[in-house]
Formats: sequence, structure tokens, C-alpha cells
Amino acid sequence: MKRFVLKGTIIYCKSKEELAAVDGGYAVCEDGICRGVFETLPERYQSFTLKDYGSCLIIPGMTDLHVHAPQYTVCGYAMDLELMDWLNAYIFPEEAKYHDLSYAKTSYQVFVQDLVHSPTTRLCAFGTLHTEGTLELMRQLEEAGFTGYVGKVSMDRNSPNTLRETDGAEALKGWLSQCNFKHIRPILTPRFIPACSDRLMAEIGELQAQTHLPLQSHLSENPIEIAFVKELCPDADFYGDAYDRFGTFGTNGSTIMAHCVYSDEAEIARMKENNVYVAHCAESNFNLSSGIAPVRRFLDAGLHMGLGTDIGAGTSVSMFRSVKEAIIASKMYWRLIDSRQKPLQFSEAFYLATRGGGSFFGKAGSFEDGFDFDAVVIDDRKIRTPLPKDPVNRLERVIYADDCRTVIDKYIQGRQVICG
Ligand code: GUN
Ligand code: FE
Repeated sequence: MKRFVLKGTIIYCKSKEELAAVDGGYAVCEDGICRGVFETLPERYQSFTLKDYGSCLIIPGMTDLHVHAPQYTVCGYAMDLELMDWLNAYIFPEEAKYHDLSYAKTSYQVFVQDLVHSPTTRLCAFGTLHTEGTLELMRQLEEAGFTGYVGKVSMDRNSPNTLRETDGAEALKGWLSQCNFKHIRPILTPRFIPACSDRLMAEIGELQAQTHLPLQSHLSENPIEIAFVKELCPDADFYGDAYDRFGTFGTNGSTIMAHCVYSDEAEIARMKENNVYVAHCAESNFNLSSGIAPVRRFLDAGLHMGLGTDIGAGTSVSMFRSVKEAIIASKMYWRLIDSRQKPLQFSEAFYLATRGGGSFFGKAGSFEDGFDFDAVVIDDRKIRTPLPKDPVNRLERVIYADDCRTVIDKYIQGRQVICG
């Protein structure tokens, strides 16, 4: 189905502050590209196949800008520790199991199946160190119809021997040569400074300078982690500078840094200068007692930003949850940390989950003319109230109810991903 029209109650962001809502509207898809939303269907699109979703809500697809697919097996337990101890006690032993391809296959099947029944259309995911397991994750996501980036994780220090590269970026290059998928593409993924030697970081930096591949990593998440980075890189001006010295902080390709809970003015300024994306993962930051990221400061500084579930420190594939937690976190930042930093409005958090993260892929996350056609169809009839509801109230209730069972259909670049 290349040319079609979806009919329903359509909501999308025009800007951070402005939501557009059209009851009984028509969203037009032509060869995977959105041609806009209309109150009455223009003559030129009347020959397109019409799919009428009645009173269902239709929103742009959401981008999970930071997620660890292999950690889905353990998400929801083991939240009693802070970042570094949590990684050592639970996460590294779990990720080591993905050496076994049959374990990887079964575990990723569960992740991908649940992701299909979620509002996510695009993702930037971490795999593990293992080439075969990571290719398996890519294959499954591609077959399920997703668009996104997946990274084989690079790490070679401060981790178990079973989770260490032994030959710099050689294994990474071997994996890259096997990434032949259409919609799931590779992303360089140095885990974080504590787990990557100077040699490994330098080789990844060189590789990015040659290939301009995108890159994802972690930044300024936890005080103990940040102190460790200071010890490991005494010459760096701040954590982000430790990446920048290797050319892995946005100067050689699009770059996402997850968390940024403790990013100060200098780090924010460098991120702005280098066009680095922030992946804000509020629920993860609560669960690991990391803190609350200063999202209002990021917005005021004009940083690119999206939201991430950060499974397994986040506990659900649902981006509805990420939107809700981002709003709650920003309220607590305002109340407890800095009363000058206003909480996120609903439209701003929705924007971050759709257009904000989507912009990492170019034009994604809106129904304006020229955007990739990513749409999520939501049947909210089970969320009951005797009150009349306008479209935006309905969307807010869906997001706060955080129930992926309301997602009944999904389109990614015009490809229909069956949810039912
Ligand atoms: N920093 C390095 N690795 C990880 C990880 O797996 N999860 C989180 N939350 N932070 C990290
Ligand atoms: Fe993470």
C-alpha cells in the first residue's frame, strides 16, 4: 500500500508549544511520505486507498532515542543499586549471556514483539559486544518493520573479561561490514568512557571521521561515574570533553548522549556547539537514583533533545511512560532543585517524544508535508469517563494511563506494522 489516507482524530506537534488537532481529519501518505493533514480530503488524493479508523486517535510515531535491547530480560528488577554497582552486579553478567546466539534470539524476540505493540516507530538501540547477537537484533527489528539504528557495544576495560574487545576497533569493523539491512542501520556505540580505553576511543573517533556514521553513548549520569571519569581522564575539562578529545562528541557525525543529568554550563555549551543530541531518560534516572536532568536548561540552550526508555534501567518499552515521567521529573526539578526552571508542558514532552527524537532521522515525528509517514493509531475507548473530552484531553489520558494495549495499528515510513 503505497498511497493511502488514514482517517481519525489526528494530533501532532506544529511546534513545542502548539499541538494541532483535527477531528475526523485525513492524513495522507504518498510513497512513505506524509502530504499533510486535511479537514476535507483534497480532490487530488481521492483516488488513494482510505482507511477509516473512526473515532480513534492518530498520532505521529514516537522515537525511543536510547534503549538497551538486551536488558529487557532483567528490566523491572534489580533496582537496588546505583549505576556502577548495578552494571557490575546485574547488567554485565546479563549482557555476557548474549554470547550464546540462541539466548540472544529468544530474548530479542520478546523485546521486538513487545516493541511492535508500543507507540515506538523508530529507535536508537544498544545491542551487546557480540557481533552475531547484535546482527540478530537488527534482523528481527528489520523484519518487524522498524526504522532505526542499532549499535554493537564497544568496551574493553572495567568490565568482565567476557565483555571486552581485545583488538581495538577490529571487531567493530567486522560487524560493520555485515550490516546490510535496509531500515536498521549501524551506529557506533562506545559504551561510556569508564568502559573504553584511550586506544579504543581513538580508533572509534578515526572510524567516525572516515565514515561519518552516527554515534551513541552515555554522559554525566551519576556522581560516582563522573568522579571515575575525572580520575581516568585528568586532562579533560569535563566529561563531554573526554569524548571530544577523541572526536566522538558530535564533530564527526550525529551523536546522541544519554542522560546528561549533571551537565554544567560548559558541557551544555559544547553540546550546543557540536550539535549533540540529549536522550532524556527520566524513569531510568529515578530508578538508579541518578538524579533529575535539567531539561528546561537544555531547551533554553537550544539543544537537540529526545526521550529514551533506557531499558533496563527504565522498566517499559512504552514511550507513553517516557513522556509521563519526563513531565513528572521536570516538576520535581522545579520544586526541589531550581524554581526558575519551569516544568515541561504536555505539548513539550509530546514534542520531544515525536519530533524532537524524530529529527535525529531527518524529517520524522510530525504529519506536516514532507515528513516520513510514521503513524500510531490509538483506540482509547477503554479509558472511560462520562465527561466529554477534546482530542488533546484524550491524548493526555492515553499517555498518563500508559497502556500500550490502546495501540491498535502502526505505520513506519508508510509500511504497515500490524499490532492487533
Ligand atoms: N552507562 C554505561 N552503560 C550503561 C547502561 O547499560 N545503562 C545505563 N543507564 N547507563 C550506562
Ligand atoms: Fe543507557
